[in-house]
Amino acid sequence: MSPRGVLAWLYRPGPITGLALLVGWFAIYFSYRDSWTGVALALATTLGAYVAIKRGRALGQLRRTKMAAAIAAAAARNRELDLLRRLGSILLSVRSSKELLDEVVQLAGNLLQTQGSAILLVVEEGRFLKLVAGSGLLRAATDSLLPVDRSLAGWTVQNDQSLISDDMGKDPRNFPVEMLPSNLERGMCVPLRSSGVVIGAACAYNRIDGRPFDEHDVALLGALSEQVAVGLDRATMLEDTRRNERELAEKNRELVRVTKLKDEFLANMSHELRTPLNAIIGFSDLLLMPESGVLDEQQRDFLESIARNGRHLLGLINNVLDLSKIEAGRMTVHLTRLDLRDAIQGAVTDTTSLRSAKRQSVSIEVGEDLLIIVADHIRVRQILFNLLSNASKFTPEDGTVSLSAIRTPVPLPVPAERAGEKSRLVSRDAVWVSIRDSGIGIRPEDMGKLFQVFSQVDSSASRQQQGTGLGLALCKQFVEMHGGTIGAESIFGGGSTFWFILPIEGPIRQPG
Ligand SMILES: Nc1ncnc2c1ncn2[C@@H]1O[C@H](COP(=O)(O)OP(=O)(O)OP(=O)(O)O)[C@@H](O)[C@H]1O
Ligand SMILES: [Mg+2]
Repeated sequence: MSPRGVLAWLYRPGPITGLALLVGWFAIYFSYRDSWTGVALALATTLGAYVAIKRGRALGQLRRTKMAAAIAAAAARNRELDLLRRLGSILLSVRSSKELLDEVVQLAGNLLQTQGSAILLVVEEGRFLKLVAGSGLLRAATDSLLPVDRSLAGWTVQNDQSLISDDMGKDPRNFPVEMLPSNLERGMCVPLRSSGVVIGAACAYNRIDGRPFDEHDVALLGALSEQVAVGLDRATMLEDTRRNERELAEKNRELVRVTKLKDEFLANMSHELRTPLNAIIGFSDLLLMPESGVLDEQQRDFLESIARNGRHLLGLINNVLDLSKIEAGRMTVHLTRLDLRDAIQGAVTDTTSLRSAKRQSVSIEVGEDLLIIVADHIRVRQILFNLLSNASKFTPEDGTVSLSAIRTPVPLPVPAERAGEKSRLVSRDAVWVSIRDSGIGIRPEDMGKLFQVFSQVDSSASRQQQGTGLGLALCKQFVEMHGGTIGAESIFGGGSTFWFILPIEGPIRQPG
C-alpha cells in the first residue's frame, strides 16, 4: 500500500477518524493550559480528519458506482440466461421450421439488443443464401437471395468462421445489396451447422445502444445458432414424418378404393363366369345320365372331361371369391349344430373320384364320442374337401389316405377381452381331425409357407398337380374363424399329416 493509501486508510470515516478528532480536541484543551504547540497539533489533526472524511466519501462513491455496474452486468446475464432458456421451450414446442426460424430471429434481436437479426440458409447448390427469417430492420428482406461471395453471411459460410464488422459500408467482405436496408452499419455473423456441415449463418445488425459487437455477443449468437441447428433438424424430421403420414394416408385411401374396385370386379366376374359354367356342368351331367342314352364311349369320355374341368374351374372361382370376401372382412360364418361324422363322410364321398383315379385307398377312424359341433357346415366341408383332395393330389398311385377324428380337451386361443391385451390359451372341448397320406411329403424349409396365399411348394411349370395355392390359406382362415387352429407335419418323401382342431362350442363371441 502507498503512503497516500495508508493515510487514506487511517483517516477514513470511522473510529480512527473519531480518535484523531479526540486527540485534536485534547490538544486544544491542553494548549490553553501549556503552549501553542498543542493548538498547532490540534489544527493539523482536525485538518487530517477533514481530508480523510472527504477522501472516504470519494472512495464510497467509487465503490457504489462499481457495485451498480456489477448489478447491471448481473441483470444483463440474467436476461440472457432467461432468453436462452426460452429458446429451449421454443425448440420443443414449434411444429415447423418456418415457425422455429421466426421465433429465433425475434429472440436473437432481444438477446443482443439489436435493430435487426436474420437467419440465412445456403440454397441453389451453395451459390446463394436465402434470408429465411428476419426481424426488425431485416424483416422486409425475408425470402431475399444474397450472393455467397459478396456478403458478410456468405463470408461466414465460406470460411466457417464468425465475424464482426464495425463498418459494414467499408468492409471488403461486404457488398451493399439493394435487398438489405442501407442503414446497416455494424454486423456480426456466426455459422449455422447441421451434423458438422455449414448450412447457413445467423447474423445480427446495429446494436440499439450503438456500441460495437464484441466477443461476448459472438459467443451468445453462437450458442443460439447451435440450438437452432438442433431445432431445425427436429422440425425437419417432424415435417418429414407428417408428410409421410399424409402420403401414407393418401395411399391408404387409394388402396381402399382399388381394393373395393377389385372386390366389385371379382364379384361381377365370378358371377359372369359361374353362370355359363353352371350351364356347361349342368348340361354335361344331363347328357351323361344313363337315360339320355345317346352317347358312344368316346363322346362319354369327352363329356366327362368337360364336366370335370368345369367343376375344377368352378372350385377355383369360388376360392378366389372366398378369399376376396375374407380380405374385405365380409366373410361371415353361419353357425349351426352339425355332426362332424356326416361332414367327414360327405367330404370323403366328394373326393372318391380323385382317389379312384389313382387307385388310392382311404381309411377313416372316428372315436366313439359324439362329434356334434357348433360350426358353419359349408366351411367345414370345404376344409375337409381341400385337405382330402390335397392328400390324393400329392400322393402317387396306390398310396393311402387315412383320416381320424377324436374329441379331446385342447388349449385354444381365446381373443383378448380388452383392447391392448393379448389373446390367451384356454383349455376347451374340441374335435381334433387329422388327414395322413403316404405322399411326396414336404421339405422342412417349405413348411413355413404352406398356409400362405398362392404359395405352392413347387410352383414350377413342370409340376404335375393342378391348383392355385389357395386351398390351405382358405382352410386356415376358416378354421380360425371357428376359434380353432390348423397345422401340418411332414417327412419329405415319406408323407404328410395335416390336422385341424375345432372347439365343440364354436368361436367365443366378444360381448358388444
Ligand atoms: N398333402 C400334401 N402333401 C404334399 N404337399 C402338399 C400337401 N398339401 C399341400 N401341399 C403343398 O402345399 C401347397 C399349397 O396347398 P393348397 O391346397 O393351398 O394349394 P393347391 O392344392 O396347390 O391349390 P388349390 O388348393 O388352390 O387348388 C401345394 O401346392 C403343395 O405344394
Ligand atoms: Mg389344395
